[in-house]
Amino acid sequence: MSKVVVVGSANLDLGVGVPHLPRPGETVLGSDVVASPGGKGANQAVAAHRLGADTLLVAALGADRFGVDLRTALEREGLPLEQVVTRDGAATGIALIVVDATGENTIVVAPGANAHLDGAALTGLPALLGPGDVVVLQLEIPLETCVAAARHARRAGARVLLNAAPLPPAGSGALSELLREVDVLVVNEGEAQQLGGDATALRHRGPAACVITLGARGAISADPTGTRTHPPFRVDAVDTTGAGDSFCGALAAALAAGSDLDQAVRRGCAAGALATTRMGAQSAMPTATELDLLLAAEKETTSA
Ligand code: RIB
Ligand code: NA
Repeated sequence: MSKVVVVGSANLDLGVGVPHLPRPGETVLGSDVVASPGGKGANQAVAAHRLGADTLLVAALGADRFGVDLRTALEREGLPLEQVVTRDGAATGIALIVVDATGENTIVVAPGANAHLDGAALTGLPALLGPGDVVVLQLEIPLETCVAAARHARRAGARVLLNAAPLPPAGSGALSELLREVDVLVVNEGEAQQLGGDATALRHRGPAACVITLGARGAISADPTGTRTHPPFRVDAVDTTGAGDSFCGALAAALAAGSDLDQAVRRGCAAGALATTRMGAQSAMPTATELDLLLAAEKETTSA
């Protein structure tokens, strides 16, 4: 079976609920703070792992209490952690997450140790990669590390899936370089706009396939066979945090299992929707059973 290898961030998420997101200069009273494991890299690894993919995480934690807590949480998931390093002198990444009454959020990430996930952390990677594997990247670690990981992947005949979030400031040369090493690009609407347009335009920057996630409106995909729209799965959303990560983890797991892009995007949409029905990021990732149930229910609705 092909593997999913996630090279990315791990954060401690500090989440607070508010009636509405504060405007600049505004103070809003919120709920109690909830601390939970997060980080786009760790979230996507947990998502793929819960869906049954043979998954590995390459990440950096700080030498502090939060790092110990995150390692314990990932261990409980059953993820292999040989490639999760602890960086002395660095703090574990922290994300400050504010969620409003409709489930929308704003997130500020203090990268800490994630910024120290460098090429040296990738030395074990080539021996772990093989043809057909899917290497999954996001942009909460240094871009140079992503470029190096993508090159390792390509040399091994593995595929590269990049979730280009969060985007660096415009005009990043390293991002253009990275895009040329990517097979499947996943972005949301805002990121697509910032990167220069629709799925077809994004493909011209390098990736053979591009997926734009549209939140509650589903997704659009484009590859050499054409552009397609993917309908959403209707659920009651309480917290959209982690939805994009759930989508990417499920997409990677499906691609590693041999699905074509359309099937994989459909599973991604279902997994993304399920993650919005629960609070938190990592804790909200669906299991394979939950995903199959939603896919089966949707089939019934469409054929009824
Ligand atoms: O995508 C959601 C994630 O973004 C959160 O878990 C937070 O840690 C930030 O990385
Ligand atoms: Na969630």
